[in-house]
Amino acid sequence: MLVLAGILTVRSQEPKIILTPKPKTEPRINGAKIFGIRPGSPFLFTISATGKRPMRYEVLNLPAGLRCDPVTGQISGVLSKPGEFITFFKVTNELGSAKRVFKIVCGDKLALTPHMGWNSWYVWENHVTDKIMREAADAMVSTGMIDHGYVYVNIDDCWSAKPVSSDSLLTVEPRDKNGFINSNKKFPDMKALTDYIHLKGLKAGIYTSPGTLTCAGHTAAYGHEEQDIARYAGWGYDFLKYDWCSYSDIGKTDNLTDLQRPYLLISKILRAQKRDIVLNMCQYGMGDVWKWGKKAGGQSWRTAGDLGGSFEDIGTALFRDGFDVYSKDSLHLYAGPGAWNDPDYLLLGYLSNWKGKTVPTPLTPNEQYTQVSLWSIVAAPLIFSGDITRLDDFTLSLLTNDEVIEVDQDPMGLPGHRVSRDGNNEVWVRKLEDGSVAVGLFNRGENESKVTASWTDLGISGNQEVRDLWRQKELGKFKGNFTSDVLRHGVVFIRIKPVSEK
Ligand code: GLA
Repeated sequence: MLVLAGILTVRSQEPKIILTPKPKTEPRINGAKIFGIRPGSPFLFTISATGKRPMRYEVLNLPAGLRCDPVTGQISGVLSKPGEFITFFKVTNELGSAKRVFKIVCGDKLALTPHMGWNSWYVWENHVTDKIMREAADAMVSTGMIDHGYVYVNIDDCWSAKPVSSDSLLTVEPRDKNGFINSNKKFPDMKALTDYIHLKGLKAGIYTSPGTLTCAGHTAAYGHEEQDIARYAGWGYDFLKYDWCSYSDIGKTDNLTDLQRPYLLISKILRAQKRDIVLNMCQYGMGDVWKWGKKAGGQSWRTAGDLGGSFEDIGTALFRDGFDVYSKDSLHLYAGPGAWNDPDYLLLGYLSNWKGKTVPTPLTPNEQYTQVSLWSIVAAPLIFSGDITRLDDFTLSLLTNDEVIEVDQDPMGLPGHRVSRDGNNEVWVRKLEDGSVAVGLFNRGENESKVTASWTDLGISGNQEVRDLWRQKELGKFKGNFTSDVLRHGVVFIRIKPVSEK
């Protein structure tokens, strides 16, 4: 009893320490360095950069068919032919300018880096509205998240009709006379909504299920797949989360052909559209989806159940569905550019407690650092699902550390994995494009602990420079290993690169 009381005191006293330095006033270009698009699809990519406004955006070597708005940094247009284009972003303000290489790959692959954005589910669940979505898009700009690479503003479940409901806003005709799906009255004009999101340089996502109903009992796609996707494309959506719910009435969850059928079908229909729509498969990891999600046409797939299914247990789920699932089945072997493992959303800030209230995440500050660090190491989508209109400085600092995001968005796209475990201590490593490695020293235990990353485990040797990613600070030169104290359920997240020969 005494021990439990002790643990509870430690947890409640854990301070929210902001490690991320404030962005500098000089320009800095952030976010993805590579972007995939198909020939003929509308191109939209917004250059993300921090620094004092006003800012001027330019792209050198931009291929024909594209233009960059110098005031907003939005690149738009169409590429008619496949090809790879090396361009240079240049961003200038009164204090100077920043330049960075940006590669455009026009072919058949989308999502060359993990998706970054926001999703409505864990905060607004079944009471999402058009207004909430617009406010989310506004907040992505006003909080500056857009300047760090966040792109998608995604509606989850509950935008379509709900045949059985006491709410007359939901019990609309599920489809029009031609079988095309309708939105419910909380979404009066879907096209106007995506236009609103696109004007800000952001992208819009939508959700449905392959069964007759979604998980929350709203109209879903079964038997109307072609019409529904045509509808989403017409409305202007860029991202589809395709769940599983109620498809268990149609297919068996222990049969691989049944598990794959709805995703093979929907990805084929998506590919036939005249705009790029990224497919996020949400079937909770059934049938080891990581082994076939890419073949089924998904750009990402959920690897486990709902991380926040039980509000109180999010901390437990974080270690189980993050650390254990990923290391047990070596999930890193199956993901890469255009095909990502998805351990679910970033559960930070204010979330629904599923009892009618929006409350602070049950994750302790250390656990929140742990979630963002692990997600970056395993190359997971960074989709925040707390209240984006109510971001305190601590939560915003967790979401907008550019050196941490750079690991997640590394253009080589090689997901990291666990290289050692010693009791509650774990070391995870991710190889990065510039030859350095990102390393997470994690402590899953109840007490502070010393965690050591040995060069042999990391696959490196010799004299190495170590940088603390959260603090964005050099820690010095090390040989053979690096050891640090790590707080309860916390992380020390570093980047290691060979000392340059002078
Ligand atoms: C499932 C999914 C969640 C969410 C809900 C919506 O539980 O796993 O992410 O989309 O459905 O009902």
